[in-house]
Amino acid sequence: MHSSITAALLAATTVLAASAPSCSLTQKCPSDTPCCSQYGQCGVGAYCLGGCDPRMSFGLDSCVPAPVCQSKTYNFDSMDRITSNTKYLGDSSKTDWVMDGAAVIYNDNVLLTMAPDTVGTLLASSTYMWYGNVKATFKTSRTQGVVTAFILLSDVKDEIDYEFVGADLKTAQTNYYFQGIPDYNHGTNISLSDTFNNYHTYEIDWTPDQVTWLVDGQVGRTLKKSDTWNSTTNQWMYPQTPARVQLSLWPGGLESNGQGTIDWAGGLVNWNSPDISSNGYFYATFQSVTIDCFNTSSAPGTNTGVSYTYNNAAGTNNTVVDGDDPTVLASFIGTGTDMDAGKASGSSAAAPSATAETVPGRSGENPGTDNHAGDTGSSSSSAAAGSSATSTAADSSATLGSSNGAFTQGDPSSGSSTKSGAEKLGAQENVLKGSMFAGIVAVVAVMAL
Ligand SMILES: *[C@@H]1O[C@H](CO)[C@@H](O)[C@H](O)[C@H]1NC(C)=O
Ligand SMILES: *[C@@H]1O[C@H](CO)[C@@H](O)[C@H](O)[C@H]1NC(C)=O
Ligand SMILES: *[C@@H]1O[C@H](CO)[C@@H](O)[C@H](O)[C@H]1NC(C)=O
Ligand SMILES: *[C@@H]1O[C@H](CO)[C@@H](O)[C@H](O)[C@H]1NC(C)=O
Repeated sequence: MHSSITAALLAATTVLAASAPSCSLTQKCPSDTPCCSQYGQCGVGAYCLGGCDPRMSFGLDSCVPAPVCQSKTYNFDSMDRITSNTKYLGDSSKTDWVMDGAAVIYNDNVLLTMAPDTVGTLLASSTYMWYGNVKATFKTSRTQGVVTAFILLSDVKDEIDYEFVGADLKTAQTNYYFQGIPDYNHGTNISLSDTFNNYHTYEIDWTPDQVTWLVDGQVGRTLKKSDTWNSTTNQWMYPQTPARVQLSLWPGGLESNGQGTIDWAGGLVNWNSPDISSNGYFYATFQSVTIDCFNTSSAPGTNTGVSYTYNNAAGTNNTVVDGDDPTVLASFIGTGTDMDAGKASGSSAAAPSATAETVPGRSGENPGTDNHAGDTGSSSSSAAAGSSATSTAADSSATLGSSNGAFTQGDPSSGSSTKSGAEKLGAQENVLKGSMFAGIVAVVAVMAL
């Protein structure tokens, strides 16, 4: 018994250290790791959930069906419906937000945090919007190299963005992408009062005909579908597929990023800045998000079924199916074509691949698809390094949450901080080590099935 646990631990360590095969439109995932994650790597389990790109996966049905839109206002007064991506298996009835990184609740807001040696935090909605309206009320982070984002991102990488660079607190940058095809001329700025000190409500109103970006109810930008025709490809280069809402804080100014991204972000992140010394991390403060699903009785844009799937690799709006396929995996060894794999009582579960990765990780690049002009060789598929560390970091939320009382948020009068930032950081590192062990044990448990 003991030696088999040791062997399993060694095997699990190897699993964590293995780097997943990469995937793209021209290189689909192999059958044993069929799912291509948002970051362009192949795996099983969470690789097949939100962000799994059906065009780059082994088959169109490798990805798990995506939960349809739910109209709802999310107030961030607890972590109850925020689930780590190392635990979420696709049940959107129990989880509103899937977390990669460390989010903490503070005064009825959720803080997305970014401590030194982390790549920040990403919250992705568990449900998908196929057109509709979404509003988020938040305060951005600050300082050069630190990027706050509120975006819609579909599994085929249609994208509608608000992005904020910490070096310029008076600007909301808007952007959009069709199927992740880079275009550096789609950005438009909206001028605002200080985005770190003031809450603003950022809104995306998305219909089959146009996208409107509004801030505090004022139209800042309108994009008409009719202006997006590409006569070379004979396509509307217009966002048109079901997308998750993603809230994120990430280090654009990381040395491993492309130079274009670093320059765009305002330079390298200064990890000794005041937010780090007083709190232990950079943070963005999200107060609420409201999703209002699109109203229509015929496609595109319906949300009457259980889930969205694609019936063609073209990945356009007419290839989206609003149907009744289930969305929940039995375990992290499951895939879209074997959703019951690893079920406790299962008799015919396929043996997990010895090298399959189960939770995709980020490396500090844009959680969306947009790289920036001047980047060379950097792409969203460069996520290999640090993926296991990133995914295990997600488990630290509970303990981080318990240190909320010491968070000062730049307001000395509200804080009774007795711990230095460094001490808090030390505490967090211990949590991370503990959770990494828990992650290994979880992998062992899965492998023992
Ligand atoms: C859909 O209809 C409901 C009820 O009329 C309305 O409250 C909601 O704002 C509409 N949603 C959108 C995105 O237009
Ligand atoms: C938008 O603002 C950013 C940051 O200040 C700046 O780098 C960029 O050039 C601006 N883009 C446009 C299109 O004006
Ligand atoms: C949906 O796809 C069809 C076929 O490509 C296209 O004709 C139509 O314009 C698309 N609608 C939108 C809103 O993009
Ligand atoms: C049309 O699509 C092609 C292929 O994606 C792209 O290279 C080109 O820049 C697009 N043209 C326009 C005007 O968007």
